[in-house]
Amino acid sequence: MLKFPKSAAFAVLGLTLLSTPSWAEADAGAGEKVFKKCAACHAVGDGAKHKIGPVLNDLIGRTAGTAEGFKYSNPMIAAGEAGLVWDQTTLAEYLANPKGMIKGTKMAFAGLKKDDEIENVLAYLTTFSQGEAASAPAAQEPADAAPVETAETTPAVSTETAPAMAVEASTGAFGLGRVAMPEEIAAWNIDIRPDGMGLPEGKGTVAEGEPIFTEKCAVCHGDFGEGTGRWPVLAGGQDTLQRERPEKTIGSYWPYLSTVFDYVRRAMPFGDARSLSDDDVYALTAYLLYLNDIVTDEDFELSNENFTSIRLPNEGNFIPDDRLSEPHYAKRGEPCMSECKPGPVKITARAQIIDVTPDGEGDENTGGGID
Ligand code: HEC
Ligand code: HEC
Repeated sequence: MLKFPKSAAFAVLGLTLLSTPSWAEADAGAGEKVFKKCAACHAVGDGAKHKIGPVLNDLIGRTAGTAEGFKYSNPMIAAGEAGLVWDQTTLAEYLANPKGMIKGTKMAFAGLKKDDEIENVLAYLTTFSQGEAASAPAAQEPADAAPVETAETTPAVSTETAPAMAVEASTGAFGLGRVAMPEEIAAWNIDIRPDGMGLPEGKGTVAEGEPIFTEKCAVCHGDFGEGTGRWPVLAGGQDTLQRERPEKTIGSYWPYLSTVFDYVRRAMPFGDARSLSDDDVYALTAYLLYLNDIVTDEDFELSNENFTSIRLPNEGNFIPDDRLSEPHYAKRGEPCMSECKPGPVKITARAQIIDVTPDGEGDENTGGGID
């Protein structure tokens, strides 16, 4: 059930026109477009931060696996220790086939298939490598590059002191902490309920959601929500819930649209959470409804006004949990809620010894990885 929204054709056409003047030479401008494929995971430029992948500033000449503050996989660190330094040749090999070059790299990216894409993206990345930009003839200055005289390194951490805040001390038993400020509560209180409570003001159409999805979500979830590799599938699966291996998606399984909005606003794109505007989230939610055939008009606009009029197909199959009234549970009587174990408590084992706690440092399974 693939769909090709009309605007997809225009997007492709637009790219072709823009990249025509690059002939055979590496073209940083065209490379900037190729970099969109990397941007879900990597940042470059002023103020860039690590995302799912490391910052790619000053990449040329850098030993693999050494960007400060990024948690690399062991194979990437080992490759650096074995002498792998990123230059035009090693990068071209890596980008053509990341997993082929470094077994076990946690970069979940299949690679760039076209040589000119690789050359162009390298030309683009070179413009963010200090000292190298001048010596690489093909590299063009990106429009927003900092002028040379201000290229002095700016301190990464702001030295401004935080303004003194009037905070109320806690009156709790231990006298620890302080009362949360109204602004903090507002920032944390972002849940959205099925009846629409908590929805911010805003709006967005299917057609507006599509390019945002292509740029920020499709690397993982596929152009049509079909999921790439083992990343979650976001569309389809209708009529599979009774099967042995049901495909549970927003369209086939989720009961409420509010969960889609809340989840995307709170947690996506993975690795860059809370970076979307409310209007972007409305547009993406509208696009996800479209991919799931729940709305069919590309001009459909979702907003806080009409949000609750949209019902997901499986809502009716979610019922209140009334298990306690079933015979099996009813005959057990009231569950014990206090003093359930007679006599004093005896400790029989420690969690660390029975090995339910991860070891921490150096342990592969302590999280942080995305595979
Ligand atoms: C789905 C996320 C993802 C995408 C897409 C992606 N990368 Fe990565 N990349 C990573 C991760 C994660 C690592 C760290 C790998 C490791 O530690 O094994 C990485 C590592 C790298 C490195 C090594 C950096 C270093 O400091 O040693 C380079 C170079 C790189 N990526 C370039 C690219 C380029 C260029 C693209 C786009 C053409 C791209 N990546 C697309 C996630 C991604
Ligand atoms: C780098 C990969 C990546 C990118 C980019 C990404 N996601 Fe996700 N997405 C994930 C992963 C991983 C999960 C599952 C997280 C979990 O279960 O803890 C997920 C889960 C979801 C889910 C819930 C799916 C389900 O059935 O549980 C939705 C909805 C979603 N993403 C939407 C988006 C949208 C919209 C974007 C773009 C703004 C986006 N994602 C970008 C990796 C990604």
